[in-house]
This record gives sequence, structure tokens and C-alpha cells, in this order.
Amino acid sequence: MTTVMVTGGAGYIGSHAVLALRAAGFDVVVYDNLSRGFADALTGEAFRGVPLVQADVGDRKTVQETVRRYGVQAVMHFAALAQVAESVAQPALYFRNNTVQGLELVEALLDSGVNLFIFSSTAAVYGEPAVVPIPEDHPTRPTNPYGMSKLSFEFVLESLARARGLRYVSLRYFNVAGADPQGRAGERHDPETHLIPRVLRAAAGDQPVEIFGTDYPTPDGTCIRDYIHVTDLIDAHLLALRALLTSTEAFTRVYNLGSEKGYSVREIVAAAEKVVGKPLTIRELPRRPGDPAMLVASSARIRQELGWQPRLGLDAILATAWAWEKRRPGAARRTRDAES
Ligand SMILES: NC(=O)c1ccc[n+]([C@@H]2O[C@H](COP(=O)([O-])OP(=O)(O)OC[C@H]3O[C@@H](n4cnc5c(N)ncnc54)[C@H](O)[C@@H]3O)[C@@H](O)[C@H]2O)c1
Repeated sequence: MTTVMVTGGAGYIGSHAVLALRAAGFDVVVYDNLSRGFADALTGEAFRGVPLVQADVGDRKTVQETVRRYGVQAVMHFAALAQVAESVAQPALYFRNNTVQGLELVEALLDSGVNLFIFSSTAAVYGEPAVVPIPEDHPTRPTNPYGMSKLSFEFVLESLARARGLRYVSLRYFNVAGADPQGRAGERHDPETHLIPRVLRAAAGDQPVEIFGTDYPTPDGTCIRDYIHVTDLIDAHLLALRALLTSTEAFTRVYNLGSEKGYSVREIVAAAEKVVGKPLTIRELPRRPGDPAMLVASSARIRQELGWQPRLGLDAILATAWAWEKRRPGAARRTRDAES
């Protein structure tokens, strides 16, 4: 049986990967320093028996011990800091955590004989798009240190593939949303900066929904984004893993992961009103610096090369996220939404 190490497995997307990998018959070991994740995200029947190694990905010794102890053969690397505003305020923290620690991780893996690697990259590597939908060969000009730290790590991967035989797939996610349809995992950032959980938290707490910028050059003046259900996103990781495991020669790929459909902030709020069953109050605020008007993926490459097909649309995203919001650990206490 193949053992996969899931870095960041105590976080939002990583915990969904753990569920899908186990369902597909892989052994899993979670590697997470719990700086932003939650040990209790890995409780419940579906996670029983999954080991959690609590350490930094930049801790080479622990990475190598983990590889030896569990017989790790491939890695899904979700661990990162991922808040744009924080990255602007503390760029060194982001480069150290996401790029430097990532480099230590990959070198430690290669030194231990592990050369199969899947990386969570981001649409933030593109910056302000020149064309929409955005293809993978679009120029990469990130506008914040978060995106820069991720793009720098893509260069690390590319170089180590050439020099040391690393085989990798870098997946550039657009806006990931939704929760496990069986309610075993869901989104839980603190502070929460993502639109859909913010809208649903506002609904749950009878608070106004904040909209940042209503004067963008879009049909209703609000930003347009491409939302992808976390289950579809993880399906792509499993396809990438199988491609890596079966490839007999150098395999390095970069793929966008998005639904190829754009929704404005106002459209999301209107769809959320239907799911929560009540009208929501809106508070219009100025634009946030660095928010592009429109980000929509072209995912043609991964559809063609790996046969990936997203199946869950906006209704499923909102329904699963709302079901999770109502039972999310800590949902009852007051959140720090207003700060993000
Ligand atoms: N959520 C999105 O919409 C989105 C979009 C694009 C890219 N991504 C990327 O997907 C990945 C997962 O995102 P998420 O939303 O699940 O984030 P998350 O914060 O929920 O999970 C990240 C996990 O990584 C852990 N971690 C961070 N730095 C670490 C380190 N140095 N060593 C060990 N563990 C560490 C945290 O404790 C946390 O559990 C990130 O790499 C993020 O950049 C997410």
C-alpha cells in the first residue's frame, strides 16, 4: 500500500485530502505544526488511526524520521501561511514559511529517496490578469508576498526537478470553498478572510455582509471570482498522484484548478440568501488594495491531460458550507470576522 504524507493535513483543504486518500485506499500520515490548523480537525471515525506528526515542514530531521517510520512514498504539500494582508505586513514570515521551509522539506524528501510531490499553488501567482479566463502560460506577476512566496517555491520545484529528479505537480487553486458532503470536515480559518464562509457566518450571527468595493468594472460593480468545491479540488490531487505514481519518466506539470465560471460578490450573496432562507443585510465598504476585478481560471489543461472534471457547482458549495457552518467547532462563539 502506498503511504502519502499530507503536510497541512490539520487545515481546511488538507483534512479533506486525508479523507479522500483513505477512501481511495492510501495510507496517510499528517504532518502539521498546528500553527493555523486544528488537531481536533482529525477526530471522528473517518480519521481514526491517522498519525499526526506535529512539526515544521522545515524541520529536516523530523521529515526524514517521518519518511522512515511510515514508509512515505509521496507528499501532498498543503502546509502554508495563506493570508494576503498578513503577507503584506510580514513578508519575511511568508517567504520563510512558504518558500524556505518548503525548500528544506523537498531537499529532506529527496535525500530520503522520496521524489513524488504535489504542491498547493495559487491563482495569486498571476497577479492582475491580462486575459480572462487565465491559462497556465499567462504571465506571473504576483502583487503580494503571499503570491510571491508560492511562485518562488514553484521555481524551487522546477530547479530540483532538473537537478535531482523530483517529479511534481503544482496545482494553482482559484477560490476553494464548500465542505465535505458527509459533514466530516470543513473550512475553519481564524480570522476568516474568504467570502463564502464570511457570508455564511454573517448570516448565522445576524450580522451584515461586508462587500469590499462596488465600483469595479464588472456588470454589478463587485469582484468576480471562480469558486471550486473542495471535493472536486481533491479529486484533481488524486488524479495527479496517480499520474506521478505511474509515470516512468520525468513528470513535471503546472495546472490551474477552477470551475471556469465566475460569480460576482453580489451573486454569491443572493445565492447564499436562498440557502440560508432569509435576506441578508449588506454593508458596502471601499475596495481592498490589490483585489483584481475578475479572476476566472482556464482549466482546459488538466481536463485534457488528466481527465479532471469538476462536478459540484455553486449550489452544492453553499449547501455543504452552510451545513458545516451550523455545526463547525467554535461556530457558536463570537468570531473575529470584522478584523479580516
Ligand atoms: N483556501 C483557498 O481558497 C486556497 C486558494 C489557493 C491556494 N491555497 C493553498 O492551499 C493550501 C491549504 O490551504 P487551507 O485553506 O487549507 O489553509 P489552512 O490554514 O486551513 O491549512 C494550512 C495548514 O498548514 C499548517 N502549516 C502552515 N505552515 C506550516 C509549517 N511551516 N509546517 C507545518 N505545518 C504548517 C497549518 O497549521 C494549517 O493546518 C495552502 O498552501 C494555501 O496557500 C488555498
